[in-house]
Amino acid sequence: MSDDRLIVALDVPNALAGLQLAEQLGDAVSFYKIGLGMLTGGGLALADELKREHGKRIFLDMKLFDIGATIEAAVRGLAQYDLDFLTVHGDPHVVRAAKEGASGKPLKILAVTILTSLDRADLDAGLIRAGDIPDLVAERAGRAFEAGADGVIASPQEAAMIRALPTAAGKLIVTPGVRPVGAALGDQKRVATPAEAIADGADHIVVGRPIWAADNPEAAATAILDELRNPQAGLSQ
Ligand code: C5P
Repeated sequence: MSDDRLIVALDVPNALAGLQLAEQLGDAVSFYKIGLGMLTGGGLALADELKREHGKRIFLDMKLFDIGATIEAAVRGLAQYDLDFLTVHGDPHVVRAAKEGASGKPLKILAVTILTSLDRADLDAGLIRAGDIPDLVAERAGRAFEAGADGVIASPQEAAMIRALPTAAGKLIVTPGVRPVGAALGDQKRVATPAEAIADGADHIVVGRPIWAADNPEAAATAILDELRNPQAGLSQ
């Protein structure tokens, strides 16, 4: 049975590999994320095919950032495709422009707070002001909601804090940086298990390498879906 709380990141090189993976995962997975790595490999065509031919939901992870006019034009163009979620950076001017570009379409604009692969040292290197990451994430999430974002992308470690914000009522929290117990972290630094992420208030979890890089992607996806249905295993570590 499919469960759209799981979004599988199709971070494979091209549309053909993405389609093959989606066909392998079959009915169990109903929501896919297509990101920048696939842009030159037919990502938009794949989004279209997965939606029209296979009835899947699509999250286009473009993490757009630019002046407002350019964001609005980019989002207006992308909104011609039948997409469900699109990411932009969480800066209020970007979120406002993206919402303008998506007006009249069902496309939901999700604001990136702080990438889950970054820690405080990375923020220092990027000249991001002092402060604990969870506090900065909660502040960025609140500002993005006020600017009209339909939801935010955050680490599962920050999901509970965001869910508690008054401005988060009715908003989506989508968490990458999710690792089943025992899975390799890769470059993710602020992680939690699928069950923990959902228990802390995430509406959807995004999982990439633990599924597409697994020897048996279907078994890996099924194990995560089982954990979502029966959270005890993922909450007990
Ligand atoms: O392979 P892994 O499960 O780490 O993949 C996570 C996915 O989520 C990647 O496609 C990455 O681009 C995306 N992502 C993220 N952190 C964010 C936003 C998106 O890791 N803040």
